[in-house]
Amino acid sequence: MASFLLLVVFLLFGSFSARAQAGYSPPGARTATGRLKTKVDRLSSLVETLLSQQSDLTARVDSLSAQLSEERDKNRELALNLTQALHKLDSMTSTLYEHDTVIKQRLQCACEKLIPVTEETSPTESTGPVIEGDCAEYYSSGRTTSGVYRIGLLPGHVDAYCDMDTAGGSWTLIQRRQDGSVPFNRTWEEYKHGFGNKSGEYWLGNENIHLLTNQRNYTLRVELEDWDGWILYAEYTSFWLSGESDQYRIHMSGYWGTDRNAMKLNNEQMFSTVDRDNDEDREYDCSQERGQGGWWFASCGYTYLNGRYLGNCGDSCPWLQGIIWGSWKGYFYSLKSGSMKIRPTEEVSTTKPRPSVPPADTETDDPTIEGDCAEYYSSGRTTSGVYRISLLPGHVEAYCDMDTAEGGWTVIQRRVDGSVPFNRTWEEYKRGFGNKSGEYWLGNENIHLLTNQKNYRLRIDMQDWDNQTRYAEYSTFRVLGEYGDQYRLHVSGYNGTAGDCMTRYFSNDGMRFSTVDRDNDLNSGHCCQRRGQGGWWFGNCGNSFLNGRYLVSCGRSCEVWQGVIWHSFTGSRESLKSVSMKIRPY
Ligand SMILES: *[C@@H]1O[C@H](CO)[C@@H](O)[C@H](O)[C@H]1NC(C)=O
Ligand SMILES: *[C@@H]1O[C@H](CO)[C@@H](O)[C@H](O)[C@H]1NC(C)=O
Ligand SMILES: *[C@@H]1O[C@H](CO)[C@@H](O)[C@H](O)[C@H]1NC(C)=O
Ligand SMILES: *[C@@H]1O[C@H](CO)[C@@H](O)[C@H](O)[C@H]1NC(C)=O
Ligand SMILES: *[C@@H]1O[C@H](CO)[C@@H](O)[C@H](O)[C@H]1NC(C)=O
Ligand SMILES: *[C@@H]1O[C@H](CO)[C@@H](O)[C@H](O)[C@H]1NC(C)=O
Ligand SMILES: *[C@@H]1O[C@H](CO)[C@@H](O)[C@H](O)[C@H]1NC(C)=O
Ligand SMILES: *[C@@H]1O[C@H](CO)[C@@H](O)[C@H](O)[C@H]1NC(C)=O
Repeated sequence: MASFLLLVVFLLFGSFSARAQAGYSPPGARTATGRLKTKVDRLSSLVETLLSQQSDLTARVDSLSAQLSEERDKNRELALNLTQALHKLDSMTSTLYEHDTVIKQRLQCACEKLIPVTEETSPTESTGPVIEGDCAEYYSSGRTTSGVYRIGLLPGHVDAYCDMDTAGGSWTLIQRRQDGSVPFNRTWEEYKHGFGNKSGEYWLGNENIHLLTNQRNYTLRVELEDWDGWILYAEYTSFWLSGESDQYRIHMSGYWGTDRNAMKLNNEQMFSTVDRDNDEDREYDCSQERGQGGWWFASCGYTYLNGRYLGNCGDSCPWLQGIIWGSWKGYFYSLKSGSMKIRPTEEVSTTKPRPSVPPADTETDDPTIEGDCAEYYSSGRTTSGVYRISLLPGHVEAYCDMDTAEGGWTVIQRRVDGSVPFNRTWEEYKRGFGNKSGEYWLGNENIHLLTNQKNYRLRIDMQDWDNQTRYAEYSTFRVLGEYGDQYRLHVSGYNGTAGDCMTRYFSNDGMRFSTVDRDNDLNSGHCCQRRGQGGWWFGNCGNSFLNGRYLVSCGRSCEVWQGVIWHSFTGSRESLKSVSMKIRPY
């Protein structure tokens, strides 16, 4: 608009001067010129105002655009900040996911040790929870998580740790040693009333044990662990204590276990402490001589589970001072941990379902149940088939391979036709699943129990879809327990034709077991989930994976790392046609 006005002014000036130059000067022209001049003056002043207004406007536009660009910069920064924040969130989410898995795992572990008593003492529960008579009653009322529970005992109540997991659960712990945090050199009064920490080491108290074991018939179970992780079990199907008037005398019978009955001497003995010598020995005060713990000393005997907690001093601990089961580790060895637990005896026969299937072998009248297939083999039962294996606390059936490599192999895993899915939960892998004549997993607990009795070797036989067969043998094979070790595997000493996929690269040795619902592997992801959902001793994630998906028709182009895999034999894209894992003692 400003330029248009300038043009008008210019044209007006132009015509005026043209006329002036032509010398045209009619009468009254002077007045006309004057009028024009004023007009022009007015116009030019108008233009000036307009011009100044324009520069005003320009300045305003300039400042606006500056503001705009500032805004734009701010926006850009905001977007940048936002992206950074999103990145941060992303990484936080993944960390959170990892933490979540860890927490879930810890929670699972913690639940096993949790103290359900706190829930009971909660004041909000006005009705008051039922206090059961022992851990077996809690178990059958559906409280099947290990932890400290309150036990109803006349005249008062007492807290005790309930082991709801071992050998069918329902166990009330009367004693536990595990770290030496609680001294066991105590007086008669202390042993009478009990001492220690119910979540850790403790003695339930002779009076309490007496009261409990006089209500029902109880089974006593002793569990001991040495410093190499070997476990001893001992059970007495009958166990009770007399009252204080009879010095808490012990009565036990019906022994069975993995070692000799080293408490035989203690049977029918009175209890002794440093301040009350009730033992059979006239010369010595056994408690004083043997580590100052309270016990049913004979004269003085060779088993003291309340001895001093000496730690790992190997075979050179002070003689007969530590925690000792004489016939097992000798008198110079102090055990790493141990517990004594009781469960109503009749409970065992009712809660433990008897296997309805008779042994598949024909000689059903043969009452001998052997400890593994090797024992059947050496007793002359040399036909492959399903046999019953004697294992504490119950029995289990397993397929015995009596033909391969001199026979006597107890099969712990077999895949032959894909009829049994192997994507299973922790609990299923723990207890075992499948069909003993076909595909199955013997169960981590059973494998653990078996391989802790003797030294076993592992043999894996496999076949690909061209009917080629290969094998891998490992001279040692051992699976540790669930608690603390999550069925950790020890395997070593390869020999065979299939190549070593378990100890060479990405070793499975020392790895804990993982399932879809419990990630114990070393990988930041979840090996099991990524590799066909079967349970295995995943490291990071490894080259062997015999519990993968049974894939049939994809030949050598199966989905990578999903099948039944032994990498050095068939690679990561082919799933084995058949495989079996079997163990035999030396
Ligand atoms: C972007 O982040 C920086 C540093 O955190 C902060 O100083 C700045 O104010 C943020 N900018 C905006 C626009 O939020
Ligand atoms: C238990 O042992 C500690 C350390 O040896 C000692 O101080 C304490 O007096 C002992 N207690 C009993 C009851 O012997
Ligand atoms: C009891 O033992 C548990 C497990 O060892 C431990 O975490 C806890 O701190 C102990 N409590 C006391 C009061 O000593
Ligand atoms: C304990 O078992 C014995 C025989 O084994 C039986 O006679 C007795 O009645 C049982 N006691 C209780 C309290 O069940
Ligand atoms: C196993 O796989 C089947 C089929 O893919 C699925 O339905 C089932 O939920 C899986 N089970 C577990 C425990 O992952
Ligand atoms: C178990 O497997 C065998 C062999 O594959 C088969 O003959 C049998 O029918 C299976 N039994 C069950 C209960 O699935
Ligand atoms: C593998 O063996 C089976 C059974 O003996 C037979 O049916 C099949 O044809 C064989 N496959 C090959 C590739 O030789
Ligand atoms: C593998 O085992 C066989 C038979 O036990 C033995 O003869 C051979 O020497 C072993 N090979 C290796 C490399 O250990």
